[in-house]
Formats: sequence, C-alpha cells, structure tokens
Amino acid sequence: MSDVASEGFVRVAALGDLDEGTMLGVMTPAGERICLIRDGDEVRAVGDECPHQGFALSAGELCGDGTIECVWHGARFDLRTGVVKRGPAEEGLARFAVRVEGEEIWVGGKLG
Ligand code: FES
Repeated sequence: MSDVASEGFVRVAALGDLDEGTMLGVMTPAGERICLIRDGDEVRAVGDECPHQGFALSAGELCGDGTIECVWHGARFDLRTGVVKRGPAEEGLARFAVRVEGEEIWVGGKLG
C-alpha cells in the first residue's frame, strides 16, 4: 500500500486528465462526488454538488477571479476556501485534502 493510501487518500485521477485552468468531476470509491480544479501548480478538490440545487460544479465555469460558477443559477464560490461569493447558494462548498504523487491525484478527507 502506498503512503498516501495508508493515510486514507484514494486515487481519483491522473494529473494528465486535468489541464491547467480546467475542472474535472470524479467520484470516490465511497460515492462522494468531487470537483477537481487545476489552479496553476495546485490541484484543489471541493464537493461537486452545488449547495443550491445540486448541479455539478465540474460542469460549470472556472472564472478568472478565483471563483467557480455553477452554470444553473449562477452561484459563485471561492475555489480556495469554498465560501459563497454570489447567491443564490447560501452554503459554501466542502473542501477536501489533495495530494499529487507523481502523475496521480489523490483525495483525502474533508478539511475543516
Ligand atoms: S444549482 Fe447551482 S446555483 Fe442553483
């Protein structure tokens, strides 16, 4: 078992699946829907269900101002903190720990 697996991380994608400035929806073995975001050299992971009405954020827009937009009703969230930047969503996004090991992206537990 790799070190990251022993720490509770699960492999969800290859780095090559996630071009700079794009998002990718993945699902963990536990059935958690995750939106991966390539933000410069960083990979971030947030919950993929919009807290407003559940639309997939990974099908939305990565805006140039550090937010992601749900394209159903236009809610925006800070991609680093998950905080709501524009309604109609009222709750922020869950964030998940991410590790990039070589060419593989691993996702761990929710961040506080
Ligand atoms: S479902 Fe995302 S803004 Fe309504």
